[in-house]
Amino acid sequence: MKATPIAILLCFYLLSAVADEEETHLRTLKQAFHDDFLIGAAIEKLLFEEGARPTLKLVPTQFNSISSCNMLKWSPFNPKPEVYDHRAADAYVAFGTKHNMYVVGHVLFWHNQTPEWVFRDVDSKQLDRSALLERMRERVRLLATRYGSKIEAWDVVNEAIEGNGHLRNSTWTQIIGKDFIEQAFRIAHDELPTDVELLYNDYSMTGPKKRDAVVRMILELKQRGVRIDGVGMQGHWSINGPALADIEASIVAFSQAGVEVHITELDIDVLPRQPGMHGADVAKQLEQDEAMDPYRDGLQAEMQQRLAQRYADIFQLFLKHREKIKRVAFWGTTDNHSWLNNWPIKGRTSYPLLFDRNGAPKPAFHAVIGLKAPEDAADDPAPTVIHD
Ligand code: G3I
Repeated sequence: MKATPIAILLCFYLLSAVADEEETHLRTLKQAFHDDFLIGAAIEKLLFEEGARPTLKLVPTQFNSISSCNMLKWSPFNPKPEVYDHRAADAYVAFGTKHNMYVVGHVLFWHNQTPEWVFRDVDSKQLDRSALLERMRERVRLLATRYGSKIEAWDVVNEAIEGNGHLRNSTWTQIIGKDFIEQAFRIAHDELPTDVELLYNDYSMTGPKKRDAVVRMILELKQRGVRIDGVGMQGHWSINGPALADIEASIVAFSQAGVEVHITELDIDVLPRQPGMHGADVAKQLEQDEAMDPYRDGLQAEMQQRLAQRYADIFQLFLKHREKIKRVAFWGTTDNHSWLNNWPIKGRTSYPLLFDRNGAPKPAFHAVIGLKAPEDAADDPAPTVIHD
């Protein structure tokens, strides 16, 4: 059997592990990619979960950026009028500040996890445009007052453009109109410190229709004098797709539109999916099916190797376009904390990240780290904003 590059790499790693265990062992993701892009992870309520210590320890060791997953979304943070639960968000921001990390706020405005009361007045009548815009402004003003520049970038709007390139027909656009995205970015610019970066975030950004619609949206915002600093390509990809050429086309297109590219929610799903089941629309849920959960008892070496190769290919592409990419962030830290164990089918066992359920680096981790020569690794660096 022909030895694949990844097999050679893995053999090299195993053989050299003894010789330079100290060297290999010490190299972390943030050291390896220090001069290329920020490297991050979404941390859920790790700060509070029992038994999460091994995973939490990973975060400042391996990463120089964090994303907030659920805790800053409208529902968890402000479930009812005048009712706030900011304990998790406060701990998240304090953790990132303590470890001198690039802290990202996810998400100001999204069609999911926004309580119905946001769109209603005290008599449960639907708000009009100006009233909803004012309520949006209140949310951002409160977050700006509480966190200021400690949150260095916000996903201002999430998933507002459909795969066919049309604006999503959400309650936001039904009430505000087709300039919802523009108004959201205007409010974020007005209320947040000017050094806080404003991002548009979405999934399936490698599809040509969505890619072109997002480029048009960026150019229109710029033409209207509305600040947008970056685009988040979520990166919920699978072992089989999207093609590297499609990922590359989007990185280049968004960069040419004049914004920084962030890979915001990277994970590579190894589990089978029904035809047409891609993207990350959380509203989609499918029935349990044993055949769709083939790795309940562990991931075979062959699939580990395929996952390692897929991650190596994707990171090779990121390195090729390192000057366009500000950040690469994973949607979770260890496999057991991945949303993909429950989407699109609840209760499956997925293996989408670089660290296994015990927090140990997987072959995919070594394949990614192995793309950078040891001497490239910086000493224990503070996070650098690579592209001013
Ligand atoms: O915290 C409550 C808990 O108190 C309650 O008992 C439990 C049962 O309903 O729900 C818990 O909240 C869940 C939350 O995750 C925290 O675990 C919500 O129901 C559940 O809907 C929520 O799912 C999140 C999903 O977004 C929907 O908001 C996933 O964790 C999160 O990974 C996923 O992340 C999204 C990004 O925000 C946007 N891009 C796609 C990505 C994946 O769908």
